[in-house]
Amino acid sequence: MTKTTTTHSERETSAVGRELASTLASGAVVLLFGDLGAGKTAFVRGMAEGLGVAPEEVSSPTFTLLQEYRGGRLPLFHVDLYRLNDPREIDDLGLDEIAEGGVLVIEWAEKLPRPNPGAIEVRIAHGDGDTRAITLA
Ligand SMILES: Nc1ncnc2c1ncn2[C@@H]1O[C@H](COP(=O)(O)OP(=O)(O)OP(=O)(O)O)[C@@H](O)[C@H]1O
Ligand SMILES: [Mg+2]
Repeated sequence: MTKTTTTHSERETSAVGRELASTLASGAVVLLFGDLGAGKTAFVRGMAEGLGVAPEEVSSPTFTLLQEYRGGRLPLFHVDLYRLNDPREIDDLGLDEIAEGGVLVIEWAEKLPRPNPGAIEVRIAHGDGDTRAITLA
């Protein structure tokens, strides 16, 4: 089932992430697709909130590939693949294993070398001004 929500602010996009996270169990994988500045990190901040992690802990992990946020209902593992171009480096992260211990969310998921059939796919598209169309599938 596909569901599209239109948001008009960063806060509204975070709220969609918050709602989604409240439904997730350990082992869930969320793939985020969307251009620079689409709101992927804002969505992750909402997911953190939905799991009971302090949302201000969530930053753009551009230089740290993988960040872990604990203290919530489940650990949240946050990966940003923007700077990774070699699929082997992505394999080396061991994402499948990481996902087993909590919720894994991946920015720039288009860089993953293989499809992930069990994952939830979130696409965030720019509209006019602050409008974003968020599709969950
Ligand atoms: N409806 C909206 N939803 C989300 N962010 C919005 C919205 N309207 C405006 N913004 C702004 O867009 C920016 C989104 O930044 P964010 O870091 O979340 O994007 P990103 O997709 O993670 O980018 P990057 O590809 O660089 O990681 C913020 O500055 C935010 O305030
Ligand atoms: Mg980001």
